[in-house]
Amino acid sequence: MGHTLLIIEDEPLLGNELCRHFKHQGYRVELATTIAQARHKLLAQKLEPLIVISDLNLPDGKGLDLLAEVKSKLERSEWLFLTAYGSVPESVQALQLGAYDFLEKPCDIERLNLVVASAKRSALAQRRLQDQHSGRARRYNIEAFLGTSSAATQTRAMLRRLAEIPFSSLIISGETGTGKGLATEILHHSGARAEAPLISLNCAALPHDLLESELFGHEAGAFTGAKKARRGLFEQAEGGTLFLDEIGEIPLDLQSKLLKAIEERKIRRLGGECEIEIDITIIAASNRDFARQISNGQFRSDLYHRLNLFELKLPTLRERKEDLQTLVPALIEEFNAQANRQVHQVSATAWQQLEQHDWPGNVRELRNVIERCVLFAEDEHLPHQWLQLQTPPQPTQHLQTEGVFIPLDGSMDLDAMERQIIHTALQRCDNNTTAAARMLGTSREKLRYRQHKHGL
Ligand SMILES: Nc1ncnc2c1ncn2[C@@H]1O[C@H](COP(=O)(O)OP(=O)(O)OP(=O)(O)O)[C@@H](O)[C@H]1O
Ligand SMILES: [Mg+2]
Repeated sequence: MGHTLLIIEDEPLLGNELCRHFKHQGYRVELATTIAQARHKLLAQKLEPLIVISDLNLPDGKGLDLLAEVKSKLERSEWLFLTAYGSVPESVQALQLGAYDFLEKPCDIERLNLVVASAKRSALAQRRLQDQHSGRARRYNIEAFLGTSSAATQTRAMLRRLAEIPFSSLIISGETGTGKGLATEILHHSGARAEAPLISLNCAALPHDLLESELFGHEAGAFTGAKKARRGLFEQAEGGTLFLDEIGEIPLDLQSKLLKAIEERKIRRLGGECEIEIDITIIAASNRDFARQISNGQFRSDLYHRLNLFELKLPTLRERKEDLQTLVPALIEEFNAQANRQVHQVSATAWQQLEQHDWPGNVRELRNVIERCVLFAEDEHLPHQWLQLQTPPQPTQHLQTEGVFIPLDGSMDLDAMERQIIHTALQRCDNNTTAAARMLGTSREKLRYRQHKHGL
């Protein structure tokens, strides 16, 4: 079925000609010859035309008044007006009211086709955007944070509360895979800023100079390679939410700039003269321990306190293992649908393995495990041999307090190992070089030299 097009025109000749023309193009055409008829179709019959082509003057009223009357209910349609030659003021008024365009009578058929095609593209794009929005809103409502444990229930209650408050910044902390990204989506899509953009940046993913221009934008010529001016993420998120993931990775000098931007609610592009006002919510996430980073001097405490109007701490999966009962079936269902599988049975052996595992990667790890099993399933049973749950060897207590854990799996070269040993020794001695040297069985001078070499 084609798209619906409503024609409001009282001249029979023109009305019928337009009907015929657009039916031929595949539209489902409706014709109204009076304002009353059109109003009836739009309001009583809830017709949702993609495009309305309306005459300005009809026997019982004006097309513009009808547009003004129904506009708020017809956000998904584009309106075109047919105007008599030379009626400029009315055309202008039509555009001001939100009409897409106007066409002078008598209609030139090529211009008519062009304008209608372009109105159609615009209306379809708008509909797609709206549908995406409502789809995302549904996917990221508060219930999307699954779990019946008290920790999960409390998290949902907190999310619900936060979505009602116009907070300016928030920190979400939690181990990897505990749902910091998910919580951000939920807060954005359930909050007052849902219609505006949610812009995400993983601060660990970019080197320092790129990070700065990514956040604040730059003017043309601000640095070599900056050919054109570019809006930064602060500007792109205007009215909405800026999600700074892994904020603990932002270098110190950029932390100062960030603090200034948040406090003054203004930014300046790199190489820019003027200040740009910003109105956004900032959600910062970290899986690092802020207290430790602050005491190490790696994170500014003033920035932490500015961001930390609220801190949402997400529970690990290992402290809410009863939630496996909700998460596992939900994930199986999700991957069944994705991969066209019919898994419905989880054996006692599988449950036992799932419950015993420690889940260092939390829900993300669980998702990966369930996805693998569903993909390898041959019938309705979740194949437990594909769970493959191995907990990586944990350094023992002895190693943690007296030794250093060095992986011998090729992930560290000899230099990195030496650095790691020195770093750990210094940490344990609160950066006292003499004590660390004693611990490492070397002299202070030799340790100093190596510290310098490794930039410690
Ligand atoms: N409570 C939950 N209910 C349903 N799905 C969840 C829950 N927690 C996390 N997930 C899902 O687990 C996956 C990992 O979550 P997410 O990416 O939000 O974690 P994260 O905390 O941002 O991790 P990282 O620190 O590694 O970025 C996502 O697919 C997310 O939708
Ligand atoms: Mg994340």
